[in-house]
Amino acid sequence: MRDAAAGISVKYLENLFAKESSAHELSKEKMQPTYKEGMSISAAEASILKFLIQSHSYKKAVEIGCFAAYSSLWIAEAIDGGELHTFEYNKEHAEIAKEVITAYEGPSKINLHQGDARQALASIESEAPFDFVFIDANKAGYYEYFLWAEKNLRSGGMIVGDNTLLFGEVGLDQPERVSNSQWREMRKFNEAMADSEKFISCFVPTTEGLTIALKR
Ligand SMILES: C[S@@+](CC[C@H](N)C(=O)[O-])C[C@H]1O[C@@H](n2cnc3c(N)ncnc32)[C@H](O)[C@@H]1O
Repeated sequence: MRDAAAGISVKYLENLFAKESSAHELSKEKMQPTYKEGMSISAAEASILKFLIQSHSYKKAVEIGCFAAYSSLWIAEAIDGGELHTFEYNKEHAEIAKEVITAYEGPSKINLHQGDARQALASIESEAPFDFVFIDANKAGYYEYFLWAEKNLRSGGMIVGDNTLLFGEVGLDQPERVSNSQWREMRKFNEAMADSEKFISCFVPTTEGLTIALKR
């Protein structure tokens, strides 16, 4: 009963702070055949991204891990007239994202790059520095993406990483269900994001965990 009440209340708040458009509905419909629990951010998490972007008037954004472009649509809305580069490795996911992005009619430009972000990110370095980097892809790649983001972000820019609780295992002495490399790299990522000489940062305990760092 309490769970049902909490669910209704979250939905009520999501509708106030991050009301989905028909584009978000399309993304959710298209992602269904390949969707696994927690793969896409929630509207509540989107409201945090939107808040962070709009309160800093960010315009140049990068997203690593696009899936069905659900989070891309939120970022594109928040940068309002800016440009988003989003990266997706999986061909099937990139095809879905392409359909969703083609139907998108908002004011920002969304560039979808199909390929492994570990190599493909180099293709946009000539456009650096960026304002905002959202990391939501392969967990063992987070620290590598952090290094890229730190280098290609302007002072005052922001890095946000999703899933930083690593399914609840990031704080364990050794991983139980995730791989050693996922555990090691996610810890390196969080520890680097917590460096107070370089960043003003925080952790938000959403279901998946959101780590946020603003570059000094
Ligand atoms: C959690 S989903 C992204 C969800 C999306 N950000 C959202 O909230 O709507 C992670 C995506 O990252 C993609 N991915 C995994 N490894 C990648 C890599 N090396 N380069 C680019 N994308 C990758 C996966 O195929 C998957 O679609």
